[in-house]
Amino acid sequence: MKVAVSGKGGVGKTTFSASLIHALAKRGFNVYAVDADPDTSLGATLGLPLEELSVLRPIIEMKEIVEERSGGGGAFFSLNPKVDDILDDFVIKHGNIKFMRMGAVKQGGTACYCKENSFLYAVLNELLLDKKDAVIMDMSAGIEHLTRGTSRGVDMIIIVTEPTRVSVQTAKVVQNLASELGVRRIKILANKIRTDKERDFIKSQFSEEELLGIVPFDEAVLENSMEEKSGLLGEFGVVPGIDEVLEKVLREVS
Ligand SMILES: Nc1ncnc2c1ncn2[C@@H]1O[C@H](COP(=O)(O)OP(=O)(O)O)[C@@H](O)[C@H]1O
Ligand SMILES: [Mg+2]
Repeated sequence: MKVAVSGKGGVGKTTFSASLIHALAKRGFNVYAVDADPDTSLGATLGLPLEELSVLRPIIEMKEIVEERSGGGGAFFSLNPKVDDILDDFVIKHGNIKFMRMGAVKQGGTACYCKENSFLYAVLNELLLDKKDAVIMDMSAGIEHLTRGTSRGVDMIIIVTEPTRVSVQTAKVVQNLASELGVRRIKILANKIRTDKERDFIKSQFSEEELLGIVPFDEAVLENSMEEKSGLLGEFGVVPGIDEVLEKVLREVS
């Protein structure tokens, strides 16, 4: 299964992504944990060793490989660099989890960034369209790593929102972007819900069909985010009810 996670900053995308990765790994899935948010924090939230994280470069910054795989300098280079054999060289492995950092898509649209972006999209293509493993991709609200091509490989995009106007507004923008890209299943996950009033607010904004789940606010999750951890995310860091959410996702995508 290939799942993208998006939403406004601070709503809990990374916490939810890490929880889902943890739940999948616990069930024996091989999972690619992909950090595609420029505000990178998935590795630390997962509890990967900080010394390893500090030296893991994002895919987009790996100029040597970009050069090598895109056919050197000059005006002619491959738009489809071969990447399958090198993919695993740029991950931190932890049990059955492989963590990688994408880096931001280079903006500007000129040829100077074309190679880097082509390489990034080739890696995403490989992950989303060719690999058999589960892929969970923690993204920003811009979802610029998804293209018409790569979105074909995404089984579901889960848009996380808090019970606030602004984050719901962002969620709706992402729904539209994802739908324009042709993502097959677009779901909303309401997070940090404390009261019936908040639950009602979410239900007034999204249909039953759109809502994947409603996750309560959890003191232990917040407390866990203050800890400097090493070792995989434990029971305390995962959001409540993640196994049920995973069940639902698996049912929908299979
Ligand atoms: N269900 C929850 N209950 C309590 N706190 C939560 C919950 N989900 C996320 N948080 C907290 O909210 C903060 C932002 O979460 P984070 O996952 O970093 O958001 P994002 O990746 O969307 O920017 C973190 O401190 C996190 O611990
Ligand atoms: Mg985040």
